[in-house]
Amino acid sequence: MDGGLHQWVLVVVSLMILVRTESFFVDITYVQSAVAKGAVCLDGSPPAYHFDKGFGAGINNWLIHIEGGGWCNNATTCLARKSTRLGSSKQMAKQVAFSGIFSNKPKFNPDFYNWNRIKVRYCDGASFTGDVEAVNPATGLYYRGARVFVAIVEDLLAKGMSHAQNAVLSGCSAGGLTSILHCDKFKSLVPASAKVKCFADAGYFINTKDVSGAQHIEQFYNDVVTTHGSAKNLPQSCTSKMKPGLCFFPQNMVQGIQTPLFLVNAAYDSWQIKNILAPGVADPHGLWHNCKTDINKCSTSQLQVMQDFRTAFLGALSGAQNSATKGYYINSCYAHCQTEMQETWLRDDAPVLNGKNIAKAVGDWYYDRSPFQKIDCPYPCDKTCHNRVFE
Ligand SMILES: *[C@@H]1O[C@H](CO)[C@@H](O)[C@H](O)[C@H]1NC(C)=O
Repeated sequence: MDGGLHQWVLVVVSLMILVRTESFFVDITYVQSAVAKGAVCLDGSPPAYHFDKGFGAGINNWLIHIEGGGWCNNATTCLARKSTRLGSSKQMAKQVAFSGIFSNKPKFNPDFYNWNRIKVRYCDGASFTGDVEAVNPATGLYYRGARVFVAIVEDLLAKGMSHAQNAVLSGCSAGGLTSILHCDKFKSLVPASAKVKCFADAGYFINTKDVSGAQHIEQFYNDVVTTHGSAKNLPQSCTSKMKPGLCFFPQNMVQGIQTPLFLVNAAYDSWQIKNILAPGVADPHGLWHNCKTDINKCSTSQLQVMQDFRTAFLGALSGAQNSATKGYYINSCYAHCQTEMQETWLRDDAPVLNGKNIAKAVGDWYYDRSPFQKIDCPYPCDKTCHNRVFE
């Protein structure tokens, strides 16, 4: 090999090693003990998680992070989900990659790398809130998410979390919503002496009209809560005041959460733009297709609608403001979930808001080194974003 080629090969090999060591694979654990409690996935299979053990000074610290994956709102959509990885542990990959907030390296995850890190697989379709005793013989669907949540926490308590000194309940998307909805419940289940906080990544779904003027997401959430029998497992501080379907929205129940809570969310959350602001039913001619695929392709008027969405988002956030125990990191990216991937959690080119990347803001907040309550300037001011491009 000549010198130039040799150098080139070296560069490629080192890049491959770098990318490879940014993540590693963790095996699945099936929670068989949950089945006897009726705590099962949509198809009746046992729930599951991926667990990488804590070490060194982190041995009694626990990060429980819930996977996302939308919701199913009626028997038809839940049936469609039942035989997928989002409804059955039989369909789940046996290993998943851990990176970002799951990383076991101080360089990539300075505050949580040596904690017990658990990725809980999402398998109920209702952010782990459902509890219907009856199983419809025609569909064979189990709506038991709330039981699954408790069964998983009990299983982890038996595996050492009963000695927890530090504990975080977190999650992305529908799992981020779980971490808000079940935050106080989680706090009540772990030892009283533990320092417990919750943190939702892209879990702050807002109740706003879609581009056709319909209350699409409000109707959808109402159906989710009705189908899964979720009402009794939503925060009572909210259900005592309004109908249960509305208590699926953080803006209506976040005020009542007592345990410290941190929110990481893009103001132009790409899932929310695609499914709340401009869902297919509200855009029959597909005028929003290109814009939803790539924010650079939005027209001036579409960008204005997105700015209005941000304004609505910030209005909905008011329930989380003026609270010393709540923190938030609202950047102006076109993104959805920014903690599970190394490139958005912590890297040289990761998003920055007020001088901090997400890993630093969350770590500083958890350990009480400094609070963080920041909202980015409007799009397109933030040049540190990793904006999503779909397809
Ligand atoms: C179930 O929900 C889907 C998605 O919202 C909707 O298109 C469908 O009409 C619903 N089906 C029934 C039977 O209500």
